[in-house]
Amino acid sequence: MTAADDSPSPKTALDGTAIRADFPILHQMQTGADGEERRVVFLDSAASSQRPQQVIDAMDEIYTHSYANVHRGVYQIAERATNAYEGARTKVASFINAPSANEVIFTKNATEAINLVAASWGRANLGPGDAVVLTMMEHHANIVPWQMLAAEKGVEIRWIPVTDDGQLDLSELDTLLDGAKMLAFTSMSNVLGTLTPVKELVAAAHRHGALALVDACQSVPHLPTDVVDMDADFVAFSAHKMMGPSGLGVLWGRMELLDAMPPFLGGGGMILNVTTEGFTTDAVPAKFEAGTPPIAEAAGLSAAIDYLENIGMDEVRRHEVELTAYAMRTLTERLGDDIRIFGPAEPAARGGVLSIELRDVHAHDVSQILDEKAVCIRPGHHCAKPLMRHYGVAATARASFYIYNDTDDVDALADALVAARDFFAL
Ligand code: ALA
Repeated sequence: MTAADDSPSPKTALDGTAIRADFPILHQMQTGADGEERRVVFLDSAASSQRPQQVIDAMDEIYTHSYANVHRGVYQIAERATNAYEGARTKVASFINAPSANEVIFTKNATEAINLVAASWGRANLGPGDAVVLTMMEHHANIVPWQMLAAEKGVEIRWIPVTDDGQLDLSELDTLLDGAKMLAFTSMSNVLGTLTPVKELVAAAHRHGALALVDACQSVPHLPTDVVDMDADFVAFSAHKMMGPSGLGVLWGRMELLDAMPPFLGGGGMILNVTTEGFTTDAVPAKFEAGTPPIAEAAGLSAAIDYLENIGMDEVRRHEVELTAYAMRTLTERLGDDIRIFGPAEPAARGGVLSIELRDVHAHDVSQILDEKAVCIRPGHHCAKPLMRHYGVAATARASFYIYNDTDDVDALADALVAARDFFAL
């Protein structure tokens, strides 16, 4: 099981070695201070994933043969660019089971998608005395836009607490939602890996007459997503965490809500008419896509979805549960009381994210030692400072898995953590 006993590591649903063949960045070797060359073990996909050659090729094809601005030119290249951009919208809609592709809005990232809702829907619909409910496991993208709205409009923010084992504490949910207008929550914690009860939370919000926004950044890349089944009002996620490019996010929303909302950003592409007196807006989604959009990026996301669908999202999920179970078992066996793993104890209750504390060693020191072994993880507060405060830690060291990781990567992580512990002579 471990490098120490040399027996082969167990297999998971996906063959990491075969998948890594598609990811050029993962072919590189890294030389440590000991002079040894090691394969790069990338365990930071919760921050941003890597992308396969197929995604790089799709973007390259746009820039090499089919790049022009979209929705403007009538020449063939421009039509190909527009088709690639709008084709990506259709593909995203089908991937998340959106009733209409027009409900899919391309943004700069998931952060901008949530800002869009807070600024557009929030400013138009909320005022002093209204309440927005968040959870203590949100990352800053789903906190700060609401705090900005609260400061501007006198809106109250209420917090769903977190239990010590990393679940949402829903014991006071009805009290928290009483009179609230919005419940905005993550479907999967980027720190704890916790999968939240999305349908239960959406139903509770609706029971109280509130809307529900799901920050699905961490779940859309890793498990099947069905916005109709979720019954949410808004769902936000980003392309770069699902092997697509950076610079592109998605907001899905119910058409009747999007239709009634004022525009977020103003400029070309979102207007029907402009005079010296004012402007009228185009229909959704154009209303929310001011300026030249991320064209090659949309083509990249489309290819990333093809890649994921080719594997099958159920297989992606099965692989990550198996890998997470193996990682939790291996790290606990090899590091015993020297390691604390945050979040739910049951692998099926979480995604492939492991935040750890190595006793008496700062997360940044852990990460630096791991880098010497070519193991890439993220130290820090993970843009979730309120959650860190809840656990009384300034930082954790976080390893996060994706389809290109396998049990060999987990063994490399365990070896490197043992080396870090021994280096600091615990
Ligand atoms: N929210 C991203 C992370 O968890 C950036 O690292």
